[in-house]
Amino acid sequence: MSEKNDKEIDSVSGIETTGHEWDGLKELNNPTPRWWLWIFYATCIWAFGYWVVYPAWPTLSGHTQGSSGWTQFKKLETEQAEITARQAKYAASFKDASFDQIMKDETLYAFAVAGGRAAFKNNCATCHGSGATGGRGYPNLNDDDWLWGGRLSDIYTTLKFGIRAGHNETRVSQMPAFGKDGVLKQGEIKNVAGYVIALSEGKASADMAGNKIFAENCAACHGDRGQGMREVGAPNLSDAIWLYGGDEETVYQTIYNARAGVMPNWNDKLSDDTLRMLTVYVHSLGGGEADEEPQVPPSTTEGEPNNNDMQQLPETPAATEPAGATTGE
Ligand code: HEC
Ligand code: HEC
Repeated sequence: MSEKNDKEIDSVSGIETTGHEWDGLKELNNPTPRWWLWIFYATCIWAFGYWVVYPAWPTLSGHTQGSSGWTQFKKLETEQAEITARQAKYAASFKDASFDQIMKDETLYAFAVAGGRAAFKNNCATCHGSGATGGRGYPNLNDDDWLWGGRLSDIYTTLKFGIRAGHNETRVSQMPAFGKDGVLKQGEIKNVAGYVIALSEGKASADMAGNKIFAENCAACHGDRGQGMREVGAPNLSDAIWLYGGDEETVYQTIYNARAGVMPNWNDKLSDDTLRMLTVYVHSLGGGEADEEPQVPPSTTEGEPNNNDMQQLPETPAATEPAGATTGE
């Protein structure tokens, strides 16, 4: 049965049907609308034009080049050139500006923070987290709890030379491994760990078993009331902010083995401009300190009720020269 002979004419419209039928509805064999055809021809012409002007067809040696010579690389280049040109006028004045001038100039400050944020994502987020919130062993840079100081100059030095980073100007200090190196016995470490936890909760008192051990072995770096000391990067132990953890087991481990976190030095890896941008960015995160401020953590101010009893601690000679403090390399 060939369809040709079976052509059926729709009785209402008088138009031939295709022979397709659904539940009594029959499809009329109308010609394709003209507007549709024109669009179809136009797209064909457009495609031919496109093949000629743009790189389009794969060839054995690569692809056709197209008469315009357009490439994504060229596009990228021009866009980057535009960006560089736009940055150039800030970059030039940024280069000569001191931190003081940057902090006072809104445009330079915004330029530094934006550049620092980008550099932070590329270089620092792996350890400090993309929001600089840190993690176990990696300090949170958003708070105002500083190991080595939160002034621009402190942060700059930390970034430039690193911490225990093997650079000869790097920041160094080494808490002794009190257990591993046999400075303290296990029971003593347990006691002083309990004392440190009490310090962080504001519950430490002079009659605790760990008090004397702390005064003799720890105060030289962590301060007589555990308030920390930035000259040696010793954390404040009287706040509830922990770098490694504040549960009994973790504090015990910290004292037994010591930690000695390492922060790479960026002196050779990043340009000085980038370092200064990063410095301003980290400073902007919330914990930045003004340059005029004395480099003393707030917890050392007199008259804090929780620590009052600690101020009468005896000044033992050991408190200025801790056992084992010199064993650090
Ligand atoms: C390999 C991991 C690592 C990378 C990458 C890293 N840091 Fe650190 N950073 C650390 C560690 C660990 C410390 C803490 C060291 C210590 O215990 O004293 C630290 C400390 C710091 C401090 C001192 C904080 C304080 O309280 O004084 C600053 C500021 C800092 N990092 C900023 C940066 C910036 C900015 C970058 C990127 C250029 C960066 N870090 C990249 C691991 C890293
Ligand atoms: C020579 C200086 C020095 C001495 C002495 C010292 N510490 Fe430390 N301590 C540090 C430094 C520096 C850090 C942190 C940096 C690191 O190791 O990553 C630290 C870290 C700690 C931490 C970790 C805090 C946290 O936030 O997780 C605890 C707890 C601690 N010390 C307790 C003690 C106790 C208890 C003693 C005495 C038995 C002691 N330290 C003696 C320098 C010292």
